Amino acid sequence: MKTLHNLHRPLGSTGLHVSPLGLGTVKIGRNQSVKYPSGFELPDDQQVRELLALAQDLGINLLDTAPAYGISEERLGPLLRGQRHQWVLCSKVGEEFADGESWFDFSAAHTRRSVERSLQRLQTDHLELVLVHSNGDDLTVLEDEVYPALQALKQEGLIGGFGFSGKTVAGGLKALEDGDCAMVTWNLREQTERPVLDFALSHNKGILVKKALASGHICLEGEDPLSAGFELVFSHPAVNSAIIGTINPAHLRQNVETVARILSQQR
Ligand SMILES: NC(=O)c1ccc[n+]([C@@H]2O[C@H](COP(=O)([O-])OP(=O)(O)OC[C@H]3O[C@@H](n4cnc5c(N)ncnc54)[C@H](OP(=O)(O)O)[C@@H]3O)[C@@H](O)[C@H]2O)c1
Repeated sequence: MKTLHNLHRPLGSTGLHVSPLGLGTVKIGRNQSVKYPSGFELPDDQQVRELLALAQDLGINLLDTAPAYGISEERLGPLLRGQRHQWVLCSKVGEEFADGESWFDFSAAHTRRSVERSLQRLQTDHLELVLVHSNGDDLTVLEDEVYPALQALKQEGLIGGFGFSGKTVAGGLKALEDGDCAMVTWNLREQTERPVLDFALSHNKGILVKKALASGHICLEGEDPLSAGFELVFSHPAVNSAIIGTINPAHLRQNVETVARILSQQR
């Protein structure tokens, strides 16, 4: 079985080294108002424990979570006890989700409260990365207090780096001027954020990909959608890691096998 252990790479100039696949954790915390091809039950603790162990065995060291992913952070805290130092943890600020609805707050006070709450929920004193969970109005969000607040938290050492998960090219480019990393949508169906990837490459900034499999929709079409999907994702050299939101161990193995093969061929 191929693994990703020898394929870790720097995340821009953050000093972090990440596996080319990360584990997205929406589906361990939330199954309401999501856009996956089919409905699902949240996995139980034992299933998540086994998924995390498998991810580690396969060489994955990056976990992506957020306050807006329902109970994802709360569940990860206890489950990561004893293995926290083996993970690069990325969480977010700005979006809140409850009773099936999102709302947003990009103020300095909320940003600090949110990071402190993430630390508490994740049972840690440091987050390697925090991203702004944009509402899509990216440039307006970047004019708010959230970025300076994250800069202050970085200076205090509570977070290692910060960046932006947005929806627009203008927002992604602006966010990378002062931030360490952008999380972009980049898949067979959606490549409009290419200029953000180009900028990241020329300025040594980190790029994490969300929805690399178009939230699972591309898996339902074509002859070998995984190979086609991951070949596209890793065709751009700015991509440091694709965060895949699977709760299925067989899919996790398939994804790792496919990415390990593609990246080995690129070497
Ligand atoms: N605004 C933001 O910041 C933002 C927005 C969206 C996502 N994200 C992050 O990015 C992560 C990934 O995004 P995403 O979950 O929307 O999309 P994704 O990773 O493109 O797709 C996940 C979906 O694909 C399915 N899948 C995965 N591997 C598969 C395989 N080998 N064969 C068939 N189906 C497969 C999963 O189902 P199974 O569980 O059955 O494998 C799941 O339903 C999220 O978990 C989250 O961490 C961030």
